Amino acid sequence: MPEKILVCVAWPYVNGLQHIGHIAGAYLPPDIFARYHRLEGHEVLMVSGSDTHGTPITVRADEEGVTPLDIVERYHPLIIEAYLKLGLNFDLFTHTDTANHWAVTQEMFLRHLETGNIYRDVQRQLYSLDDRRWLPDRYVEGTCPVCGYTEARGDQCDNCGSTYEAVELLNPRSKISGSRNLEVRETEHFFLDLARLNPALEAWIQDGQKGHWRPNVLNFSRAQIESGNLRGRPITRDIDWGVAIPVPGYEDKRIYVWYDAVIGYLSATKEWASLTGDPTAWHAWWDAAADVRASYFIGKDNIPFHAIIWPAMLIGYGGLKLPYDVPA
Ligand code: MF3
Ligand code: ZN
Repeated sequence: MPEKILVCVAWPYVNGLQHIGHIAGAYLPPDIFARYHRLEGHEVLMVSGSDTHGTPITVRADEEGVTPLDIVERYHPLIIEAYLKLGLNFDLFTHTDTANHWAVTQEMFLRHLETGNIYRDVQRQLYSLDDRRWLPDRYVEGTCPVCGYTEARGDQCDNCGSTYEAVELLNPRSKISGSRNLEVRETEHFFLDLARLNPALEAWIQDGQKGHWRPNVLNFSRAQIESGNLRGRPITRDIDWGVAIPVPGYEDKRIYVWYDAVIGYLSATKEWASLTGDPTAWHAWWDAAADVRASYFIGKDNIPFHAIIWPAMLIGYGGLKLPYDVPA
C-alpha cells in the first residue's frame, strides 16, 4: 500500500553559505530518504526553506553594516543554487519572510493565545548600558549554567544543547561591544505554556515514539518531558526583525525566531498546495486523522525545538499531525 511520507528538513539560517557539515548532517540524509520512499512507490512531500528571522540574521547584518533583508536577499538564492547543484530535490524550498508564512504563524499564535496555551508575563532580560539596547539571544554570550562552556549564547548552549534564559548565563557579555556593564530589566512578553502542555507531551512520547526513534533524540527529549518540570518559554523578543505580534500594543517587539521557524513546515505545505492549484491539498499531509508519517531531519542542536516545543505547539493548536520521527 502506498503511504504518504512528509519529509521535513531543518530550515537553514540564511546568514551565510552552507558547509559540508550542514549537508552531511541535515540535508543529504532526507534527500536519500525521500528518493528511497519514492522508489518504493510511496507518495513523498519534502519541504523546507530559508530561516530568515532572529538574531543569527541581525547579528550578521550588524557586522556588515547592512539590513537583515540585504542578508536574506543575498544568501537565499545562493543556498538554493547550492542545493540545485547538489541535486537535492525539494518539492518546495521557500523562506519565512513570505506573506503566507506570516499569516500562518500569526493565526497559530492567536489560536494559542485564545486557547490559553500562550500567556503574557513580565520577563527579566539583559540590557546593555553601553550599547543602550536589549541583548536577546545571540546578542549575549557567557558561561553555560549547565555545562560551564564559556562561549554559550543567550538562548542555547552549542556544547551541551541545553536551552535556558539569558539571565541564567554566568558572566554575560555583550556580543556587540564585549561590555559586561549589563543590567537585568523587566520587559513584557508572551510565553508558550509548556508546563500546561507537559502532560500531553508525556502521553505522546510514551505512545509510539519507542523503537524507531534514535536513542540520542529519545533520551534527551524524554528526560526533559518526563521530569514534568517544563516551564513557560518566552516566544517574543525585544527586536525589530521577525514576524509581527498580531496583538495591538506590541509594535516594538517580534515573535521569536524559533516559534515561527518550526511553523514553516506547515506554512510551506500550504504554499505548496496553493502552487499545485488545490489550496486544500495540505490537509491530506497535516490533519491529525490523515495517514501520514512526518519525519524531521535536523542537526542535533535543534532537538529540543523539534522533539519538545514543536510537538507542544501542535498539541496546543489541535487537530494537526505530530512528528512520527525526528532523526537528528
Ligand atoms: N535555522 C535553524 C538552524 O539553522 C534551524 C531551524 S529548523 C526549523 O539551526 F524548522 F525550525 F526551522
Ligand atoms: Zn552547555
